[in-house]
Amino acid sequence: MLTQTPERHARPRRYLMCRPTHYTVDYAINPWMDPTQPTDTALALHQWEELYRTYRRLGHTVELIDPVPGLPDMVYAANGATVLDGRALVATFRYPERAAESEAYQAWFRAHGYREVHRAGHVNEGEGDHLLVGGRVLAGTGFRTSRAAHAEAGELFGVPVVSLTLVDPRFYHLDTALTVLADDHVMYYPEAFDADSRSVLRALHPDAILADRADAEVFGLNAVSDGLRVLLPTAAKNLAGRLAEHGYQPVPVDVSELLKGGGGAKCCTLELRPA
Ligand code: ARG
Repeated sequence: MLTQTPERHARPRRYLMCRPTHYTVDYAINPWMDPTQPTDTALALHQWEELYRTYRRLGHTVELIDPVPGLPDMVYAANGATVLDGRALVATFRYPERAAESEAYQAWFRAHGYREVHRAGHVNEGEGDHLLVGGRVLAGTGFRTSRAAHAEAGELFGVPVVSLTLVDPRFYHLDTALTVLADDHVMYYPEAFDADSRSVLRALHPDAILADRADAEVFGLNAVSDGLRVLLPTAAKNLAGRLAEHGYQPVPVDVSELLKGGGGAKCCTLELRPA
């Protein structure tokens, strides 16, 4: 228990999202995906609309990219790019099934006035593996984004990048194992990282909230915080309680249908950080 609950402050955000019009699971590139199980596109759309409306109700701006037929994973907009200081580093995907998304995201940034739009020269799954916190980027590797991509991101954005290695295939992107809650505060699931990465995280964020296996298994770490309000899956009840103890306001969202593709609220949300 904390002796004093810290005061938290919301900052209005700008997000990019993609409607799951063509959502389905017809290939498997992570352990959550099972193409033999049916998906309900109408339900995915309904849950996504609810997430979209929630951001707007909380005072955030949401921009939209048109979904492309045949790209069912495009709804996971966090993977499209990393955007910092008006610069967009567009993803280069690990698997061919998602490769064509890069073109669509690149075109969107070009059309929307970003002063620099670069296509990653190495496998780089955008904000799924690059999270800005404490003036640096925490960058995941192990399953998707390559280590060489971390260095490329550091050079482009001119900020320090700290590489973290993921070891549990269910938590294959950094944003499935770690949430940025405030400018210098995070929560994470330690078991998703190798021993070295755990020590790095302990040193950088001694005050982090540590999630347990039950929290992680319902994708509780795939959460989105504006500094005060934290959108997280309805099923992450224990984690919601912990967040409240730390001064945050948990906002439960049901994204169960999108979890069949291996994504939650954060995966559907790319933060656009203007110049
Ligand atoms: N089916 C997608 C994939 O495996 C899910 C992506 C989830 N996105 C995320 N930011 N974790 O690539």
